[in-house]
Amino acid sequence: MLNKLLASLDESERAAVDDEEYAVLKAVAAELPSVKRDVLELIPTLQLIQTKHGYLPRLALRMVADHLGTTVSKVYGIATFYNQFRFNPPGRNPIKVCLGTACHVKGGEIILENFERRLGIKENETSEDREYSLERVACIGCCALAPAVVVGEKVEAYVTPSKVEGIITEIEVRKEMAAREQKKDEE
Ligand code: FES
Repeated sequence: MLNKLLASLDESERAAVDDEEYAVLKAVAAELPSVKRDVLELIPTLQLIQTKHGYLPRLALRMVADHLGTTVSKVYGIATFYNQFRFNPPGRNPIKVCLGTACHVKGGEIILENFERRLGIKENETSEDREYSLERVACIGCCALAPAVVVGEKVEAYVTPSKVEGIITEIEVRKEMAAREQKKDEE
């Protein structure tokens, strides 16, 4: 299935599939045969792929359409309708900005804009180096800490624009320290 799909791509589409995406597509090709060939399985199948791989590669949507006997536009339409689905691989530091009511009232949109500016990406995007991904989420259940942001697994409370800078700086410092440690180990 995967080879057939790759063969149907033009050169630039094929070149855009990096090793990481290829590995995900290969895994999806191995998983799909266990999914019943029924269009009613569409949403559960997309959820399965996203849960396992963190996102829905666009080519995986073609494979799902082929397996369930439906059109790519239908699969794509459903996947884009529900905002639980994402089309970019999550970054190593996924940042989720809460835009539930309490966080919205306390300036969540401004916080999201600050992250966008600082990282040079828009919501639902991943930075080119895959270091960061950014998304808006509904209430994360800690409204007393609004505006709140989840960075990786950690909840950041009462986030302000200057705290946005602090969060990114902390990640960069941690990264730099890890790189130095690794270099030391290699010496
Ligand atoms: S609205 Fe943001 S934590 Fe509830």
